[in-house]
Amino acid sequence: MALYTDTVMDHFMHPRNVGEIADADGVGEVGNAKCGDIMKMYLKIKNNVIEDAKFETFGCGSAIASSSMATEMVKGKTVDEALAVTNRQVVDALGGLPAHKLHCSVLAEESIKAAVRDYYDKNGIAYDRSGFPDCESCEGCHMV
Ligand code: FES
Repeated sequence: MALYTDTVMDHFMHPRNVGEIADADGVGEVGNAKCGDIMKMYLKIKNNVIEDAKFETFGCGSAIASSSMATEMVKGKTVDEALAVTNRQVVDALGGLPAHKLHCSVLAEESIKAAVRDYYDKNGIAYDRSGFPDCESCEGCHMV
């Protein structure tokens, strides 16, 4: 069996939503301290709905495919729905990732949450910090 699914290869070779949103409402940047990969997520949010999402990822093919799929998954979702997206859902949408590459999808989930947190901070929206990744609660990753 091939190591990577056709969907992973497609999103790696032809990533969707690559780039920056200059006037993004929320920007989240996360990294994995072990592999050094970095993922940056930009969200355009209007009336609590994610109208657009883009990413810039310096990382492995699985991280790029996970970023691409994550941006596709959150577009059109409410902020709360986007916060509920898990790395497992990203992996399932990709048709699976090898076990040693599952951590790459964690960056995708964390980058969404980090971008939403930035949106909350910029707009003075109160939130429960425990639901978001930060340096204190994360051993393997860090907010850059
Ligand atoms: Fe670092 Fe994939 S190896 S995110």
